[in-house]
Amino acid sequence: MSTQQAPGPAGNGVFRTKNIEQSIRDTEDPEHALRKSLSALDLTVFGVGVIIGTGIFVLTGVVARQTAGPATALAFVVAGVVCALAALCYAEFASTVPVAGSAYTFSYASLGELPAWIIGWDLVLELALGCAVVAVGWSGYVRSLMGNAGISMPDGLDGTHDGHFGFDLLAFLLVLVLTAILVVGMKLSSRITSVIVGIKLTVVLLVVIVGAFFIKSANYHPFVPPSEPRTGESGLSAPIIQLMAGFTPSDFGVMGIFTAAAVVFFAFIGFDIVATAAEETVHPQRDVPRGILGSLLICTVLYVAVSLVVTGMQHYTELTVDAPLADAFKAVGHPFWAGLISFGAAVGLTSVCMILLLGQTRVFFAMSRDGLLPRTFSRVHPKFGTPYRSTLLLGLVVAVVAGFTSIEELAELVNIGTLFAFVVVALGVIILRRTRPDLPRAFRTPLVPYVPAASVLASVWLMLNLPAETWLRFGVWMVLGFVVYFVYGRSHSRLGRS
Ligand code: ALA
Repeated sequence: MSTQQAPGPAGNGVFRTKNIEQSIRDTEDPEHALRKSLSALDLTVFGVGVIIGTGIFVLTGVVARQTAGPATALAFVVAGVVCALAALCYAEFASTVPVAGSAYTFSYASLGELPAWIIGWDLVLELALGCAVVAVGWSGYVRSLMGNAGISMPDGLDGTHDGHFGFDLLAFLLVLVLTAILVVGMKLSSRITSVIVGIKLTVVLLVVIVGAFFIKSANYHPFVPPSEPRTGESGLSAPIIQLMAGFTPSDFGVMGIFTAAAVVFFAFIGFDIVATAAEETVHPQRDVPRGILGSLLICTVLYVAVSLVVTGMQHYTELTVDAPLADAFKAVGHPFWAGLISFGAAVGLTSVCMILLLGQTRVFFAMSRDGLLPRTFSRVHPKFGTPYRSTLLLGLVVAVVAGFTSIEELAELVNIGTLFAFVVVALGVIILRRTRPDLPRAFRTPLVPYVPAASVLASVWLMLNLPAETWLRFGVWMVLGFVVYFVYGRSHSRLGRS
């Protein structure tokens, strides 16, 4: 693959790269500019607001029970390391190219237009489906709380997907309400986010502190349950690495830790979105790296603590898969704490859902501003200063997806898309150091090219631990992306036309 050299916005082919100064100038065009209002603290709150969510509240129980037992804590460490490596790369890119669009923008400036399109298309998948997944999880918690009060949703509108038609009305409505908030403006939504993040952190700390009193050390034996063959599922649901290596698909054991890591990776998704808000940050050079690394560190520590506490409170074989944190408290005879945790989880998932939606509209915005998607989607609202058209369009699409889909089918697809983005970003850091060594970098990834190379290997390793069917679905989505690019984006690209 060849990339063009600085300083020109260069090349005519699909590897033409966008000049970085041009990227920054684009953000100053008043009709297409976002308002700058965020600080490092806002970004960290923003990061923690999106990172802690369905991953820790729901997936912890699922993987502890099905693939890793108490070693789920190790799975969080593995996923955390993969994310930390990627974060070091994201931080350099975000502080070098402080414009909206995250990995999409970064790759446009380094790898070229086609790789940028691929990554943008991939991010649409990650953020839209991620938002839908969280909305469905939120709806589950809300219905459980409504159940406590003796209220239930009408049949057919309660989101049940098992075998018959089911529309998740609550998930659908949540996304619509959040879309309206985002259209009205960033500052409002970030204020709401701060309050919600406070509630969510309190609930997580409560699980750790109160739960610690109920740990029974017997529940930690065996800490890494012995490997056992998977039964009753199609071969395509096994991690692709196990199929490639010719193993009998299995759960638990050492490989189970990696299988679990590839799933709980979902719990870390979001730190990369802090980078998508770079354009709306007052001092992006300094604050974006702080926001990304700070929020990632806080979350990793909390995840390890929560998973250790929960698997210590209840034997992993007895954990539930719907509301494991709350149910562990019920199991030790404390329904009050369980209710409080369910409430906090439902509130917390609201912010996750909103920020995923926000990240999603910003990627779409950046792609539209570059002409790869119709330009009309990058017009900002004259009063609110938000990209209201892309926000409305995507909000509607996500609301419908959230109404009709189930969590399990989508979370792994979200993960593979995100990991793929990490690979491209890490490669981008290496390439940009060679092609644009002159650019000021407020944050420099240490030990280039070793850290980015380790990031690529680590991300690919987790991808290989995802099921074969996830790879297939991802392949189909990417092929569709190629078609859209060659039919529309390539000829409408502003870069190509200039
Ligand atoms: N990391 C976010 C979650 O766990 C997406 O829900």
